[in-house]
Amino acid sequence: MDIKSIKSQFPIFKNKFNGKPLIYLDNANSSQKPKNVIDRISKFYSKEFSNIGRSVHTLAVTATNRFEESRDLMKKYINAKSREEIIFTKNATEAINLVASTYGDKFINRGDEILITELEHHANYVPWHFLRQKKGAIIKFAKCNDRGEVDIDEIKKLINNKTKIIAITHLSNVTGVIMPIKKIVDLASEKKIPVLVDGCQGAPHLKLDMQELGCDFYAISCHKMYGPTGVGVLYAKKKWLDVLPPYQGGGGMIEEVKKESITFPGSPTKYEAGTLQTAEVVGFSESLKFIEDVGIKNIMQHEKEILEYGLEEIKKNNSVRIIGDPKHRGSIISFTIKGIHPHDIATILDEDGVAIRAGHHCCQILHEKMGISASARASLGIYNSKDDIDALSSAIKKCNKVFNT
Ligand SMILES: Cc1ncc(COP(=O)(O)O)c(C=O)c1O
Repeated sequence: MDIKSIKSQFPIFKNKFNGKPLIYLDNANSSQKPKNVIDRISKFYSKEFSNIGRSVHTLAVTATNRFEESRDLMKKYINAKSREEIIFTKNATEAINLVASTYGDKFINRGDEILITELEHHANYVPWHFLRQKKGAIIKFAKCNDRGEVDIDEIKKLINNKTKIIAITHLSNVTGVIMPIKKIVDLASEKKIPVLVDGCQGAPHLKLDMQELGCDFYAISCHKMYGPTGVGVLYAKKKWLDVLPPYQGGGGMIEEVKKESITFPGSPTKYEAGTLQTAEVVGFSESLKFIEDVGIKNIMQHEKEILEYGLEEIKKNNSVRIIGDPKHRGSIISFTIKGIHPHDIATILDEDGVAIRAGHHCCQILHEKMGISASARASLGIYNSKDDIDALSSAIKKCNKVFNT
């Protein structure tokens, strides 16, 4: 694969930061955008913009069609059964909140159990916490081991007749573990328990097939998939969308409104209230085309190579502790350096143009479990190369020098 040519499609890399070329290793946070995505948004506003799903003039119909094309591409990308199973949200956080709120209202009562894990991002805990407060439900946490994995037996142990939903990450944004979702779905389906997957880190880096995975809900943030901000996707099996109530009320999501009663259409309309992030959803179609052009299998192969090289290089430095050592791992390396606060690491790396993230990465429970309050995190995208890892390693050595560690 010609990574140089792929990278050249991203205008951000033409700029210098602190006088240095950009080494962007903050992809788990958000990825950079190829020119086609940026141009598509500009073209939409210049030539095609209208609000969608309302007016009948030519512009409105064209804009609606362009928007719906993104839904079709997303359906294809994750191999959903029907386009009605793709709901646009503003991010994965909203997608998870949608499920916690609607499924929670309808199916969760006092004493019912919600099974999550110690790996979860706050986006896949706080919405369940709200439900715990509102309904008196109980949240059970499947424990994470020292390798940064949650063992399937740990999940099995916690499933019982009170379990009403399992909500679990596909790929941890801290340890990088890839969870065995299909096995978890198989376990859950024996007891007819729905499974929600937080696919924020799965969707940009793994080949997805909803028919094979079998989960009931899958939450995605498109800005981590080389797409615009403000776009998320909730995949939900149609059987749920037919029975769950609407999430937010307003224009665009009703069938008939009377003084005494209101009726609602089917999905996705029922779940997409108000004016949507039209230009961003249209722009996102170019992100999916970009991923398709490169090929998700090629992306996986390339990132695996860089990840392995990265782990090998970073492990050479004895002052570095890598957080977790999962057997199945995606392109994320979280680490600490003895005697240096992660924020200081990130600041020193930034001087060399190396952009990483430092903090708890919205996973305080996991950090506490690992005995730390924060970590530094390098996370890969398709444009990263072994040179970027070399830059990271030498910037880490600079940290050692500055702090005398
Ligand atoms: C695993 C995981 N879940 C959920 C989220 C939340 O994504 P967003 O802020 O785009 O809703 C993130 C973002 O970092 C994440 O990494």
